[in-house]
Amino acid sequence: MYTLKAIILFVVLCLSVKKSKGKSIPSCKYPTSQWCDTNDIAAKCGVLEHCVLANVTKSNGMSVNVSLYYESLCPGCRLFLTTQLMPTFIMLEDIMNVELVPYGNAQEQLTEKKYVFICQHGEDECLGNMIETCMLNKMGAAAYRVIDCMESAAHVLNAAKPCAELFSPNTSWDTVMDCVKGDLGNQLMHENALKTEALKPPHQYVPWVTINGEHTEELQVKAMNSLFNLVCSLYQGKKPIACTVGLKGRRGNYC
Ligand SMILES: *[C@@H]1O[C@H](CO)[C@@H](O)[C@H](O)[C@H]1NC(C)=O
Ligand SMILES: *[C@@H]1O[C@H](CO)[C@@H](O)[C@H](O)[C@H]1NC(C)=O
Ligand SMILES: *[C@@H]1O[C@H](CO)[C@@H](O)[C@H](O)[C@H]1NC(C)=O
Repeated sequence: MYTLKAIILFVVLCLSVKKSKGKSIPSCKYPTSQWCDTNDIAAKCGVLEHCVLANVTKSNGMSVNVSLYYESLCPGCRLFLTTQLMPTFIMLEDIMNVELVPYGNAQEQLTEKKYVFICQHGEDECLGNMIETCMLNKMGAAAYRVIDCMESAAHVLNAAKPCAELFSPNTSWDTVMDCVKGDLGNQLMHENALKTEALKPPHQYVPWVTINGEHTEELQVKAMNSLFNLVCSLYQGKKPIACTVGLKGRRGNYC
């Protein structure tokens, strides 16, 4: 799994190096995560054109919406999340939105005060679902990297805290655990249950993917085979460079 990610990052790095060849960018001392924060930084880092385009793309309502209904310990879900969804999201962030809904085949019962959840892979899975739900609520965009890290690890639950510390250092673990153990987590998981049960057609298995809110067998198969190609092909705007390079499958052109 890490190999795939390494290759993708390598390609991205190569592309950016290639693009900026010839233009010297001595004044860019910002981490890549901040490159599009202001026009000034974007210009200094030689990516102004890219950032303007990315901003337009994000705000024009054309982004492809990918939702994943899944369970934290289901092997097929973990494979899809870590080898398809997250690498694609890293490459195509500008043209796609990702929604994660941890619940899947779980069931809920309302007791006197709160919901009790029963999960396909046992109590650990319910805990994993709850931790990831609270991360999505508390960490903003960083939650995706943290969840990717957990689902890539040998032991999902043991990885939760170290992954959080690595990818969302500013969120205290207590904040996450307060949510997990409290009313907020219970309510958020109930919302995941409602969202999952409202699926049309109803989900029959996990991972269950919807694209722009729609699930068909064809979309599911395409997503499982190559989410990257699916998102690129569905995006109606000007294709980002990652799509043109990726889809053509250029060879012998590595840096
Ligand atoms: C991109 O959008 C963000 C948020 O709307 C804004 O703060 C930033 O200045 C924009 N960047 C560029 C390069 O247009
Ligand atoms: C994706 O979702 C956003 C917000 O819900 C919406 O504005 C946009 O039109 C959707 N994209 C497509 C292609 O349906
Ligand atoms: C994280 O916390 C550090 C130290 O408190 C602060 O300097 C930094 O701006 C914070 N980063 C984010 C993304 O909030």
